[in-house]
Amino acid sequence: MTIHIGAKPGEIAECVLMPGDPLRAEWAAQTFLDDAVCVNRVRGMLGYTGTWKGNRVTIQGSGMGMPSLSIYANELIRDYGAKTLIRIGSCGGMQDAVKIRDIIVAMTASTLSTPSRGIFRELNYAPCADFGLLEAAVSAARKRDAGVHVGGIYSSDIFYDERPDLNEQMMRHGILGVEMEAAELYTLASRHGIRALAVLTVSDHLLTHEALPSEDRERSFGDMVEIALEAAFA
Ligand code: ADE
Repeated sequence: MTIHIGAKPGEIAECVLMPGDPLRAEWAAQTFLDDAVCVNRVRGMLGYTGTWKGNRVTIQGSGMGMPSLSIYANELIRDYGAKTLIRIGSCGGMQDAVKIRDIIVAMTASTLSTPSRGIFRELNYAPCADFGLLEAAVSAARKRDAGVHVGGIYSSDIFYDERPDLNEQMMRHGILGVEMEAAELYTLASRHGIRALAVLTVSDHLLTHEALPSEDRERSFGDMVEIALEAAFA
């Protein structure tokens, strides 16, 4: 057990999918895994371990934002020996070509600041995904009837951002979407020599101001879970 995860040693798989929302972790485990068992309930941040096509997988909520994700990712890597962490979550679209429900496979994640900022100080470190996972996820996504985009995203610290100029600069520089966790996930994975990727569904759009109705979110979320699982065990 760690401070934030109640699982016993051996109860967490080497491959962990990380949605922000703990109830999505529960839904994904019940929908896609065989023999899913709840291994964490601390602070309601649910985690489940089961199997997918015979492969052991844990689906553990990360919470929202990089400070929260950093707690769970650090404990999964350092205390439970996780070797593959895949964020599955939603993001806001930032380009005309990126439509609601499309999937973004994040090659890099730009950020103003992460919990790792103290290490890098004036250096602008470039957090990037594991290439093998990225390639496998793109090939899994292309087999589906879903729009897929591969490129840079922006990991923001602020959902209700009062600095619209920053989003404008991100859009101007080709950033596909905004979320709040991937940059720190990629940084931690690189530091500890493990694999990480973020596969995201576009749930709202900063240019068109559309938002995915809640009943559609589940189906789009399902595609993303399957793409992440196929990539993890390709
Ligand atoms: N996650 C989903 N939509 C988002 C947005 N518009 N900004 C930040 N994170 C998000």
